[in-house]
Amino acid sequence: MRVDVLTLFPEAFRGPLDVSVIGRARAEGLLDLRLHDIRDHAADRHRTVDDQPFGGGHGMVMKVDVLDAALRAVRAEAEPPGHVVCLSPQGELLRDALVRELAGHPRLVLVAGRYEGIDERFVEHCADREVSIGDYVLTGGELPAMVLIEAVARHLPGALGDAASPREESFADGLLEHPQYTRPAEYRGWTVPEVLRGGHHAEIERWKREQRLRRTRERRPDLLADDARG
Ligand code: ADE
Repeated sequence: MRVDVLTLFPEAFRGPLDVSVIGRARAEGLLDLRLHDIRDHAADRHRTVDDQPFGGGHGMVMKVDVLDAALRAVRAEAEPPGHVVCLSPQGELLRDALVRELAGHPRLVLVAGRYEGIDERFVEHCADREVSIGDYVLTGGELPAMVLIEAVARHLPGALGDAASPREESFADGLLEHPQYTRPAEYRGWTVPEVLRGGHHAEIERWKREQRLRRTRERRPDLLADDARG
């Protein structure tokens, strides 16, 4: 999969996406990540990317002409044109189903907004969708873009290696994970549940399922309500 990111801060992406699963996926060519500085597409010698909002209000708005120029240039670099996603708190919430859908695209173009927002005409005419990573406001779309890339890249075939599969994780069936333990079986008097130490496969599976349901009911009842699982 190719992912192009349009941002005012390409340097913000160096580090988090260089290590672990994502770093490996990039090194192995499963993920081709390209960072583009929106400012390179400004039309004036001051490299202006934002302006005051029509109708007043505080803060600055990212300019439609600059963003459009940046997007056209990036799209022209390769085929296919890509699925264009603007990161914004106004977007559709990033959940597991959306992550899986996005992972199915051969190319994503992520637009990380800054300042008070993006000129709505860019969102309306140039983007395929707006995505939010949660009901809180960050200063820009860079961290949300990284969150999206991380979540999506784990679903690329081969990214997690042979043993692991995102199909077996939390949310794959709409439930949270059961608790996990490793050795020692006892530490400072804190013990691992007896059933896990017994080796009775069916009982262990039942226990895990019960734990997942209980946790989900206690912590995220909305997940159960969402798809009437209970
Ligand atoms: N930009 C600022 N806050 C955001 C959020 N919660 N999700 C996506 N993009 C954002």
